Amino acid sequence: MSLTITPLAAPLGAEVTGIDLRQPQPADVRQRLYDAWVEHAVLVIRDQKLAPAEFLEAAQIFGKALQQQLRKFTLPELPLVGTISSRDLPLVDGKLHVRGENYHTDHSNYPAPPKATTLHAINLPDTGGDTQFVDVRKAFDDLPQTLRQTIVSLRSPHVYEGSHSPRKMTALSAEERAKVPQTSQPLVIRHPDSDRHALYLNTGRMEGIEGLSSDDGWALIDQLYKHATQTRYEYRHRWRAGDMVIWDNRSVMHQANADYDPAQYRFLYRIMLEGAPLQAAA
Ligand SMILES: [Fe+2]
Repeated sequence: MSLTITPLAAPLGAEVTGIDLRQPQPADVRQRLYDAWVEHAVLVIRDQKLAPAEFLEAAQIFGKALQQQLRKFTLPELPLVGTISSRDLPLVDGKLHVRGENYHTDHSNYPAPPKATTLHAINLPDTGGDTQFVDVRKAFDDLPQTLRQTIVSLRSPHVYEGSHSPRKMTALSAEERAKVPQTSQPLVIRHPDSDRHALYLNTGRMEGIEGLSSDDGWALIDQLYKHATQTRYEYRHRWRAGDMVIWDNRSVMHQANADYDPAQYRFLYRIMLEGAPLQAAA
């Protein structure tokens, strides 16, 4: 087996084949995977068959696992590994209510948001349930220079559920609510490994822009969000059983799709990796 990393036919992402992540990987292979992940922002590692503990080992090639916020969606025996199951989702008007609809970056209300999120697909519906990604580095680079200069030093408050949130966040227990952080984040961040700049947007958690009126702040956020979510910045991942997909929360936004048959079982494992406080680009 030889490790192959091939850029996807998309604006971002790369496919990885020829590796069995149940086996320990040597330092040079770990470094190749890490560097490819930073460059391409989404890695699609095909044909894995990972038990939860093996998935945890594989994820930690890229960093240190983070305790998940919603304890009820984690494995009791291995709480660093979360689960995404269609059987946990409520039906609203005959449609599944999926966590993660609308483009976002994970846990942006944390002072040090998770740098990566990774999913491993175990059971999938026949169709639907894709995950979409947009490259917020390219989206920033393509903005007119005057707009880049205007936004590069701006910041936004991020809370658990913003007052303009397009979706209802999962209800928290009193204990979880007491622990949920809120923070101020730069609107444009600098990647600690690549130094690339990127838009940092999450309409579910932002509360406008500091120093601007609510109307002006939201007009700017809406403009940037519409720009960044164009299909020219998108990779749409159609899941295959055995895929391990890992993305960089500082380089992409992602969204889930609730467009599959609720009677079909969809089950993935999820791990998040610890991040550092975000660096402002300015
Ligand atoms: Fe998410």
